[in-house]
Amino acid sequence: DWTMGSFLMEKEVEIRKMVGDKKAICALSGGVDSSVAAVLVHNAIGDNLTCIFVDNGLLRKGEREKVEKTFRDHFHIPLIVVDARERFLEALKGVTDPEQKRKIIGNLFIEIFEEEAKKIPDVEFLVQGTLYPDVIESVSVKGPSAVIKTHHNVGGLPEKMNLKLIEPLRELFKDEVRELGKELGLPDEIIYRQPFPGPGLAIRIIGEVNKEDLEILREADAIVVEEVKKAGLYRQLWQSFAVLLPVLTVGVMGDYRTYEKVIAVRAVESTDGMTADWARLPYDLLDRIMRRIINEVKGVNRVVYDITSKPPGTIEWE
Ligand code: XMP
Repeated sequence: DWTMGSFLMEKEVEIRKMVGDKKAICALSGGVDSSVAAVLVHNAIGDNLTCIFVDNGLLRKGEREKVEKTFRDHFHIPLIVVDARERFLEALKGVTDPEQKRKIIGNLFIEIFEEEAKKIPDVEFLVQGTLYPDVIESVSVKGPSAVIKTHHNVGGLPEKMNLKLIEPLRELFKDEVRELGKELGLPDEIIYRQPFPGPGLAIRIIGEVNKEDLEILREADAIVVEEVKKAGLYRQLWQSFAVLLPVLTVGVMGDYRTYEKVIAVRAVESTDGMTADWARLPYDLLDRIMRRIINEVKGVNRVVYDITSKPPGTIEWE
C-alpha cells in the first residue's frame, strides 16, 4: 500500500545509504520539483546537501527572496545564492533570437553552477527534481513544442561534472509531487506555483533584453499574478503572466500625449502545456489588470489580451 509517508521513509533510507557521508548539491529553481527534491534529500543527509540558487536577473518579482526565506530561514538548508544578474545581462546584449537566448542562458547557467560546485569539497552527487513525465519525454518522440523550442534544463550537468544523480521524484507525477511537498511542509506558494520557463523573463521580452525592460516586465507580471490570485483563479490557470512588446504606441495621460510600450497579458488553461486554451478571464479582472499596469508601471501606456490558443500559438511568445 503506497502512502506518502512510507514513500518518503523509503527514499530517505535509500538516499542515506547511497550518499553516506559524501556531499551532494542541488540546483534550486524556486519551482516545486527542485524544492521538493531538495527538502527530501536534506531530510535524508542533512547538511551534506548544499543548494545553489542562481539569480540570473530574469526571475519574477520577489522570487529570490522567497527562496532564501524558505530554504535558509525556514528549512535551514545550506544555500548558496549567486548574484549573476550582470553576467546574464552582459551575455544577452544584442541578442534577439529566442533560441539564441535559450542557449546563452542555459550555457551560462551551467558555467556558473560548475564554478560554485567546485568550491564545495568532495561533491559526488547531484540532486535533480526529474519527474516521471520528464523521463518519458526524454526517451520518446518529442512533441511539437519540444521541436520548436529547445527547453532549457540542466541535463548536461551530471556528465560534464562527473556527478552521480539523485532523482527521488523519478516515479512521480506532478500532483504526487505536490502532495509530497505538503507532507514535507513546503509553503503553498511554492507547491502551487505556476510553471515558469528556465530562460525566465528573457523570453517574455520580445527582442533584446535590457535592465529597464526587465524592470517594467517584472512589475507588470507581478500585477497580473496578484490580480489573478485575488480573483481566486491562480490555481486553475496553467499560467498567467505578462509579455513586453518592442513597439511604442500613442496614448493620452491628462493633457499629454504619451508614446510608450505595450504589455500583452497571457493566461491559459492546460493540463500539460502541450496544448492550451486561452483563459476566458472575467472582463472586470482584465480591467483591473489594465488599470493597475498603466497606473503603476512607468513606460507602459497600453495593455492587450492574447486570445491565441495552442496550437496554433505557443504559450510563450518566444
Ligand atoms: P510553449 O511556449 O512551447 O510552452 O507552448 C510550453 C510550456 O513550456 C514552458 N517553456 C519552457 N520551459 N524552458 C523551460 O524550462 C524553456 O525554454 C521553455 N519554453 C517554454 C512554457 O512556459 C510552457 O509552460
